[in-house]
Amino acid sequence: MNNFTYYAPTRVIFGRDTECETGNAVKEAGGSRVFIVYGGGSVVRSGLLERVEKSLADAGIAYESFGGVKPNPTAEHAEEGRAKAEAFGADFILGVGGGSVIDTSKAIAHGLANPGVSLWDIWSKTVPLTKSTPVGAVLTIAAAGSEMSDSAVLTFVARGFKGGINTEFNRCRFAIMNPALLATVPKYQLAAGVTDIMMHTMERYFIPEIKCDMTDEIAEGLLRTVVANGRLILADPENYDAMAEIMWCSSLSHNNLTECGRGKDFSVHKLGHALSAVYDYTHGATLAAVWGAWAEYLYKDAPERFAKYARRVWGVDEKDDIKAAEEGIARTLAFFREIGMPTSLEELGVVPDEAALDKLADLASAGKTLTLTRIKPVRYEGIREIYANAVKARK
Ligand code: NZQ
Ligand code: ZN
Repeated sequence: MNNFTYYAPTRVIFGRDTECETGNAVKEAGGSRVFIVYGGGSVVRSGLLERVEKSLADAGIAYESFGGVKPNPTAEHAEEGRAKAEAFGADFILGVGGGSVIDTSKAIAHGLANPGVSLWDIWSKTVPLTKSTPVGAVLTIAAAGSEMSDSAVLTFVARGFKGGINTEFNRCRFAIMNPALLATVPKYQLAAGVTDIMMHTMERYFIPEIKCDMTDEIAEGLLRTVVANGRLILADPENYDAMAEIMWCSSLSHNNLTECGRGKDFSVHKLGHALSAVYDYTHGATLAAVWGAWAEYLYKDAPERFAKYARRVWGVDEKDDIKAAEEGIARTLAFFREIGMPTSLEELGVVPDEAALDKLADLASAGKTLTLTRIKPVRYEGIREIYANAVKARK
């Protein structure tokens, strides 16, 4: 087991009606003027925004609300929010929504605490981030894990770039999670969320053998829980208990718990982010679309790891590591298909030509400077090959 630091400072307030505790949670975190951030309107339609605003008002907290965050949120929109938060004199940013809303909230918080510094300066690390504004979250979809993660992901439209920054300033002070709020999430988004949760765990699992029994057990248990309960919530989104499992998994999959002693990779995410930057596809769907080609490219270089995954997560009963690994990959792809996720670029909606493949590989390799995967170094040419192999669905 490698040395590690595990720190997950977000206060989790979990269960039915917990959104009514927002006012007290903000107060305890020291906020008095709250800038609420939300998305395209689901929280208005469900009445959640009104309940959150009432909770703030009851606690004597001033607030202003800012909507319009889109999936694959943009830096341009976050800059707009930063200006409004500044004009309002906000001292606390509250995201009411999913990963896109929470990431925009984090970006606004960073911008607000650093006047005159652009979000690109922060994302490109031209200006080191040394301070921010406190952020809290009321979560409405189980997927990105931003509510407990140290990450925030934005698309810079003018630059054609989508990417994240990792910093402790990205940690929410609290995350309010009421699984009942997820009953209205569209099925495609639920399935994309299930995929994203699995991927956050798998991106920390497919790292060549370092003995980490406890971390492996947590990751394998989490994956089995997501598969079993993912099926249940897709059959019945009103299944509170199943939704609660998925919601809790979403946070634990991305608060660094499943990387203790091992670390992380996130190469599938790099491939997915490039697809979202160019085509604006749903995040989880981009991951499902490339994962098969990614796994096929790598499993023979770490057969024991893929075989362990197959046996422990999918119950594959096969002694030969290579055969077990292949069966584990096949079962994963079958599950993605079962929940309505694409398993190829074609199914995602695009058949990239040669120039598009160049562009995707260039983005995912950060202009041929990045080497991906902890299994073996995969550079621009390898990344391009994975995209090319991802065009058609595997058998
Ligand atoms: O905008 P509204 O109207 O709220 O609708 C949203 C949106 O259309 C809808 N939705 C959310 N909760 C709902 C609901 N509809 C009905 N009822 C509800 N209760 O779902 C759609 C997707 O929302 P979004 O916030 O985009 O989903 P998600 O949580 O998957 O976030 C995706 C973003 O997070 C980034 C992704 O790249 C993507 O930009 N990620 C952030 C991470 C982080 N900060 O740690 C890590 C992830 O790997 C990921 O990269
Ligand atoms: Zn993700």
